[in-house]
Amino acid sequence: MSDPITVRRIDAAEAKANGETLARALADVLTDCVEGGASVSFMLPLPREKALEFWRGVLDGVTRGQRVLLVAETAGGRIVGTVQLITAQPDNQPHRADVAKMLVHRDARRRGVAGLLMAAVDQAALDEGKSVLVLDTVTGGDAERLYQRAGWQSAGTVPKYALMPDGAYCGTTFFYKHLA
Ligand SMILES: CC(C)(COP(=O)(O)OP(=O)(O)OC[C@H]1O[C@@H](n2cnc3c(N)ncnc32)[C@H](O)[C@@H]1OP(=O)(O)O)[C@@H](O)C(=O)NCCC(=O)NCCS
Repeated sequence: MSDPITVRRIDAAEAKANGETLARALADVLTDCVEGGASVSFMLPLPREKALEFWRGVLDGVTRGQRVLLVAETAGGRIVGTVQLITAQPDNQPHRADVAKMLVHRDARRRGVAGLLMAAVDQAALDEGKSVLVLDTVTGGDAERLYQRAGWQSAGTVPKYALMPDGAYCGTTFFYKHLA
């Protein structure tokens, strides 16, 4: 795959008007990542309906202003990557957001798509008035290097925090980034 990739934000109007099409495209990316062995909340096998329900919930959150959803697309309009910023937080953390579900389809990896998404998520966070970001990821996974490259700090690791899609335990490392 050598198409140029661009990153854009799905706004509330698009999430509402085009929700099912977006849910299907995003479910394709999620399913590919889980089938490729990524520990991103789901186990194998991942039923299509479960993946679709997850994205319908995310898109509902976008329409409610609780999340920012970014997608990486080819020039032809195929979604090959995504990441979210969960902006709805407790009253005492108005300046904080969680980064979640950084996913790049295996077809589009190792060409900087995740790097583009991380830069765009920082900008989206600033646009939303957020200055402290938090995320977690599999200890020793590919994403750890990505986050370190993007300026995130490790806050520590919890062994056996989650399961890989095949049921094996994995540790989780928590990261944070201060934008201001
Ligand atoms: C982790 C993940 C998001 C990275 O996506 P990606 O788009 O391949 O990431 P990038 O291309 O920005 O960087 C990946 C590697 O490609 C390299 N790269 C970037 N552009 C490149 C290019 N043009 N040519 C060659 N290599 C390149 C990067 O230096 C990086 O190298 P490293 O992994 O050895 O450090 C992807 O592997 C993924 O979706 N994994 C499954 C889901 C997952 O685990 N998500 C994290 C949840 S917290």
